[in-house]
Amino acid sequence: MLDIRIEKAPVLKEKPDPATLGFGKIFTDHMFIMDYTVEEGWHDARIVPFGPFEIHPASTVLHYGAEIFEGLKAYRTAEGKVQMFRPIENVRRMNASAERLCLPEIPEEDALQVLDAFVTFEQDWVPYKDGTSLYLRPFMFGNDETLGLHTIKNARYVLIASPVGSYYKEGINPVRIMIETEDVRAVRGGTGYAKCGGNYGASTRAGMKAEQKGYSQVLWLDGVERKYIEEVGAMNVMFKIGGEIVTPELSGSILPGITRKSCIEVLRNKGYKVTERKISVDELGKALADGTLEEAWGCGTAAVVSPIGELCYKDTIFKINDGKIGSVTQELYDTLTGIQWGKIKDTYGWIYPIAPNN
Ligand code: PLP
Ligand code: COI
Repeated sequence: MLDIRIEKAPVLKEKPDPATLGFGKIFTDHMFIMDYTVEEGWHDARIVPFGPFEIHPASTVLHYGAEIFEGLKAYRTAEGKVQMFRPIENVRRMNASAERLCLPEIPEEDALQVLDAFVTFEQDWVPYKDGTSLYLRPFMFGNDETLGLHTIKNARYVLIASPVGSYYKEGINPVRIMIETEDVRAVRGGTGYAKCGGNYGASTRAGMKAEQKGYSQVLWLDGVERKYIEEVGAMNVMFKIGGEIVTPELSGSILPGITRKSCIEVLRNKGYKVTERKISVDELGKALADGTLEEAWGCGTAAVVSPIGELCYKDTIFKINDGKIGSVTQELYDTLTGIQWGKIKDTYGWIYPIAPNN
């Protein structure tokens, strides 16, 4: 159990108009910080006013990219209650990322306590409007003050929060995605399965190219043969082919998404056949040609469930379901968001309630 010190901001900010929220542009009044040293372990846990902090110019993170992060949300139900969605999964994945980057792990109960304490403290920031939420961004970085390459002995964990609306400007309308054929995001043995900043830094060039062509994000192919579908920049992908749901298997190079895992459970529970396997671009092209590629969607915390209306591969355009949202995508969106916003009973045990603060 961590001892969390609280330093309140002298002046609280005005809450934004929930109708104008984008993604990750506004931050709450406070942030949580704790530090790690080999001698003391995790210590000095504190909730302090949100703002910049000092970092040594030789800090490991600035030179060697020792950084990991997570993304989860707190939702407001129609009754005004606040709840998180499967936070323990984020806690576990962050520890798996920490193991990969040789950053210090955090005992699960402490990491959960931090999320609970911070959301309880900042709960007035969870917006009331349908479809909005408070996005939680825990991150950790190596913070040794030396340029030598060695095992990390000092680290910092920070948790910030941002009231958000839709991640894509399209909202629930289908997005257009570009299949990247040159750059690769990850290879087996690399850091693809870890949620580390470096994966995203290396993705920027392809993302920029996609944006310039008018696409929302990049769909990555495997790093060896550049043949098999991996995932999109900020979400995992699923396809409905000939009545069956297929999604790329967790091979070590894609992020084991918590939304992906939840979609698979929901779909199987509804009686759909879901298979995790390799899916080639070739197979998608053939399925499109013979009319069996029925739906495609991406899933992730920020993106929720997002229909894919068009894929661009080299010079070929794959138009899926006439560029419209499909029935399984809609059903999945309704079920998942229904559980998250408390409109549907959670029969899975995924909801983590936050106690009111007054
Ligand atoms: N893949 C990538 C690369 C991501 O950044 C994300 C977002 O976190 C996901 C998949 C989806 O993961 P999750 O559902 O846990 O948010
Ligand atoms: C999330 O969905 O939480 C993400 O991390 C996406 C982010 C890279 C924008």
